[in-house]
Amino acid sequence: MVTGAGRGFGAALARELSAAGWLVLAVVRQASGPPALDGLPGVQVVIHDVRSDDLSAVVDAVRGRPVDVLINNAAQGAAHQRLGSVDAAGVLNAVDVNAAGPLRMVQALLPQLLSSADPVIVNITSRLGSVSAQARGDFARLSTSYAYRVSKAAQNMVTVSLAQDLQGRVRCWAVHPGKLATGMGQADAVKPPRVAARELLELLESNERRSPRFVSLGAPDLDW
Ligand SMILES: NC(=O)c1ccc[n+]([C@@H]2O[C@H](COP(=O)([O-])OP(=O)(O)OC[C@H]3O[C@@H](n4cnc5c(N)ncnc54)[C@H](OP(=O)(O)O)[C@@H]3O)[C@@H](O)[C@H]2O)c1
Repeated sequence: MVTGAGRGFGAALARELSAAGWLVLAVVRQASGPPALDGLPGVQVVIHDVRSDDLSAVVDAVRGRPVDVLINNAAQGAAHQRLGSVDAAGVLNAVDVNAAGPLRMVQALLPQLLSSADPVIVNITSRLGSVSAQARGDFARLSTSYAYRVSKAAQNMVTVSLAQDLQGRVRCWAVHPGKLATGMGQADAVKPPRVAARELLELLESNERRSPRFVSLGAPDLDW
């Protein structure tokens, strides 16, 4: 199950998983069906907005089968706003999509995750969600928004909390994909989403047991 699968990193993940023979439920929020997923073997599109508390379309699409991997990838980016003009509604919307969205997905799919032999929850996060890095001043020269940083830090707390609740039953990882050349990527973001998707697939197909883990694809792990 991959959310935000209509474009960007999510579409690259759906393509790579399909090519590797996985059955993919690709969650998109637009009813028209994205061309990025047309004709991919094993890929079924599910229409759902991760802000909604009605997850019946997601649960119906699973049809009671085990969910081996849930990739919470859908996210709301946010433009930088100077302190003094930060829009609180924008912060709340980002938290709704980026932190509450993954939590809703996990809660709706918990029985199906627990019925898998070796399930994994992957929350696609950002290095910008690291409170440690922010406190060290690592991002002092970057133009980033309160909404995005706050929501990704909150999402990281969801990941750690899930890992503790589901210890020994479901592995839970926060994964920073790198600076991707997608709609959300900044001007200097050049990593092809396809490359990051292959790195994540390799991790999924490895025997990594640690949980929680704050992975940076193609780089050393990050501090929470
Ligand atoms: N790009 C980077 O450099 C970078 C760096 C670090 C982390 N990340 C993380 O990587 C992940 C993928 O980002 P991306 O670069 O691929 O971004 P993107 O190209 O902007 O794609 C975002 C995806 O999320 C979907 N989405 C947004 N709000 C949604 C909602 N309420 N319900 C369902 N889907 C929703 C979008 O759907 P629509 O098409 O309907 O809008 C789109 O498919 C995100 O979690 C992001 O935070 C990206």
